[in-house]
Amino acid sequence: MKRILITSALPYINGIKHLGNLTGSMLPADICARFWRLCGHEVLLICATDEHGTPAELAAEAAGQDVQSYCDEQYELQRAAGIGFSLSFDWFGRSSSPQNHAFTQHFAERLEAAGLIEERTSQQIYSITDQRFLPDRYVEGTCPHCGSAKARGDQCDSCGRLLDPTDLIDPYSTISGSHDVEVRDTTHLFLKQSKMQDTIRDWVEGAIHWPTLARSIALKWLDEGLHDRAITRDLSWGVPVLKDGKPRPGFENKVFYVWFDAPIEYISATREWAEATNNTWENWWRTDQGASDVSYIQFMGKDNVAFHTVSFPITMLGSGEPWKTVDRLKAFNWVTWYGGKFSTSDKRGIFMDQALAIAPSDMWRWHLMANAPESADAAFTLEHFQAVVNSDLANVLGNFVNRITKFTGAKFDGQLPTGGEPGAEEQQLFEELDTRLAALREHHKAMEYRKATAETRAIWALGNEYLANAAPWTAMKNDPAQAAMIVRTALNLMVIGAIIAQPFIPDTAAKILDAMGVPNDNRNWPKEAAATLLDALPHGLACAVPKLLFAKIEDEQVQNWSERFGAEASEVSKNGSYSTR
Ligand code: MF3
Ligand code: ZN
Repeated sequence: MKRILITSALPYINGIKHLGNLTGSMLPADICARFWRLCGHEVLLICATDEHGTPAELAAEAAGQDVQSYCDEQYELQRAAGIGFSLSFDWFGRSSSPQNHAFTQHFAERLEAAGLIEERTSQQIYSITDQRFLPDRYVEGTCPHCGSAKARGDQCDSCGRLLDPTDLIDPYSTISGSHDVEVRDTTHLFLKQSKMQDTIRDWVEGAIHWPTLARSIALKWLDEGLHDRAITRDLSWGVPVLKDGKPRPGFENKVFYVWFDAPIEYISATREWAEATNNTWENWWRTDQGASDVSYIQFMGKDNVAFHTVSFPITMLGSGEPWKTVDRLKAFNWVTWYGGKFSTSDKRGIFMDQALAIAPSDMWRWHLMANAPESADAAFTLEHFQAVVNSDLANVLGNFVNRITKFTGAKFDGQLPTGGEPGAEEQQLFEELDTRLAALREHHKAMEYRKATAETRAIWALGNEYLANAAPWTAMKNDPAQAAMIVRTALNLMVIGAIIAQPFIPDTAAKILDAMGVPNDNRNWPKEAAATLLDALPHGLACAVPKLLFAKIEDEQVQNWSERFGAEASEVSKNGSYSTR
């Protein structure tokens, strides 16, 4: 048994996430966790809300709430949306937790002791109108690299480059909109990332198990050279900066930068879990305390890769302590809304709570993974959603389950029939199933979810093909034993189809397995040969017809949703620039 730690990038607290955010981190992390649990391994799936920084402060301000109550409320909403999508987190924490304050301060202390942190005076944008410094997203302006007029102080969404607010051309305050800003001196803690260049390069080059997208992004960053960066900000909401356990002189009105404390929350959330459930966090994170045999997998959108391959490893390795670092990092491109940007303010796109209100979570889970943006960005459209759900789920899986269970009900008293022997037709089925199950397992191990959904669907399709070829309704007339064997084989194939569907469509899979009375212990990932698997259920077993698994999505529904969610190609898409954030 292996121990597998899986983390999903932490969703910002500023509102329920849209389908693009879900697809790039939380959903695939859940699929991965479910797969490995089914294989019998010990899995710990961790997520949390990312509650600090300007995104939280700005959103609270816009909602007319103080930041603490805003975060408390949004945390509950995001937690509920996660449950609605059947995301099987072992713990869904909060980066504002006391545990995260303590770990963040601990890391800063260790980095300072290692000579990797120093106080530096630097220039920041100060708003005369607002009478405050404007860190990160409090300032916007024109990107010096690509000319986009809406670059944020910390990052340009158009070209993806990280920015320093003073790089912006014609900066203005996002609080008041005022252009009356000037550059003033302010003191911050700087992390001397440049000193860690070689350590990080060695570590990345040694990371042979990383999928290509993550690796190429990390190497690009290293090739550009690591810059020292400020890890504190002139803000009040966040982790306070200490010195010897007391507020650090000169930093009373400053906190740590959100990107410094957020990844540390992976560790802190594990500790939150451990404390709440009487477990230990050390054997997941400290290689001197049992974590050296943990496999650690991270999921995230591509804009997060630099933070996970460079910044966070610098925090961990720079501390000089034996922390467990990532083994496999799976990054996704963007899901776009009809080729454009999901946008709350422009009412374009579907958010997690809205999605659940119009269709069951399994439909979304399936569609989003079948079209995962793995090798390139992928456009979400309602028309495609309808087509995929109706063909894969309703026609291929739904029809097969319906046909075979109804036939069993009508001709065999709803019992798994006994008698008959498999023949040539079945031999061929066994071979194909063996091949496909092996391929599916490999796709899951490689976290290739487009391929894994395609293979899952192909196994369901085997069921329909087998019924068409073996034609139990014909056999029924002249060879009832033969018909019994065919029906038995098909029912077993249906159960295998449901077992392997569990990572993607857990609710539907459970309906099928419940209708067949398959005990929980027998729902694990199939290991035996197909010939055994397809006669595994006890003869005589009661087989109920599950309630309708999937109602087809009608054209009128699509029409109605299109109007509600603003389904048309956006301006942004015509310029070819977009992101999901
Ligand atoms: N909140 C960030 C985003 O949505 C992700 C944070 S991931 C972590 O882009 F590493 F910081 F935890
Ligand atoms: Zn740019």
